[in-house]
Amino acid sequence: MKAILPVAGKGTRLRPLAHTYPKALIPIAGRPMIEWIMDPLVEAGLQEAVFIVGWLGAEIEAHVRRRYGQLALRFVPQGEMLGLGHAVSLGLDEGEGEVFIILGDTLFEADVAAIRACPHSVLGVKEVADPRRFGVAELDQGRIVRLVEKPAEPRSNLALIGLYNIKDGEALRLTLKDMIEGDVKTRGEYQITDALQRMIDAGHAFQPWGIDGWYDCGKKETLLETNRHYLGRLDSRREAVRVGDSIVIPPVHLGTGVQLSRSVVGPFVSVGEGATLKDSVVEDSLICEGARLEGVVLREAVLGREALVRQPPRALHVSDNTEVDG
Ligand code: G1P
Repeated sequence: MKAILPVAGKGTRLRPLAHTYPKALIPIAGRPMIEWIMDPLVEAGLQEAVFIVGWLGAEIEAHVRRRYGQLALRFVPQGEMLGLGHAVSLGLDEGEGEVFIILGDTLFEADVAAIRACPHSVLGVKEVADPRRFGVAELDQGRIVRLVEKPAEPRSNLALIGLYNIKDGEALRLTLKDMIEGDVKTRGEYQITDALQRMIDAGHAFQPWGIDGWYDCGKKETLLETNRHYLGRLDSRREAVRVGDSIVIPPVHLGTGVQLSRSVVGPFVSVGEGATLKDSVVEDSLICEGARLEGVVLREAVLGREALVRQPPRALHVSDNTEVDG
């Protein structure tokens, strides 16, 4: 099994964290995003993976080589951000067979082996309230008959989640090549959605695959939501536990070497290796490696590696009936 994973995006909606942190390596419940994506593929028999890299690609490559050294790995730089269709085209080889394409920020729960066993190509879809920011699929009798990239007036609410198992990889390669040579763009980019529509027009069969477990990490709010979901999956403890002079309220992930003192952590907090929390209360947050918190009360916080947030205690002299707020 071969997979193509486009991970070249700059993660602009995740700035400032993504300024220096490669999006694919941002830890969700203590594990880099890319591992949550790769592990089910490896379980389903993945042998070869091609990563399309750009921004901070060297760091992604180093991590993936360390973690998945047993696979045949390739890292192809995408020099210019010309769209997902262009990115995918860089990973397709001449005479390509069946290929699994998964976007580097698409965390999903689905039976990959069952998807691969389908007689036709499969596109992962999910019903969403507002499909205008996605590729949208229209169905007829269980088949996909039309795909439109980010339509202003969607004719269905089935969004493409970014998971594609393509039976005829060579046909996709030639279609994308044709589009790139002919400079066929939508919204200024070569779109994989357009290439797949062309394949539908040429008679290729595409089957929708409903994916309920689709976890977006595109912006801070969804990153925290996804963190909550995976923490819940990993940590089934029910009761709060005492750790030294601190309290941990599950689900929580504490990386190795985390130091807690006089703090309350959780629920839904993921703390990276070597971080320290002192005199702090933290809930629903993602704290990366080596970050330091001192004297703070945080909720829905995202802190990058080695970040420091410290608030000295306030000395007050408050008279009767006074209110001090914030
Ligand atoms: C890409 C695809 C789009 C798909 C989406 C899923 O868009 O072009 O069809 O629905 O991923 O996240 P992007 O989010 O890169 O703009």
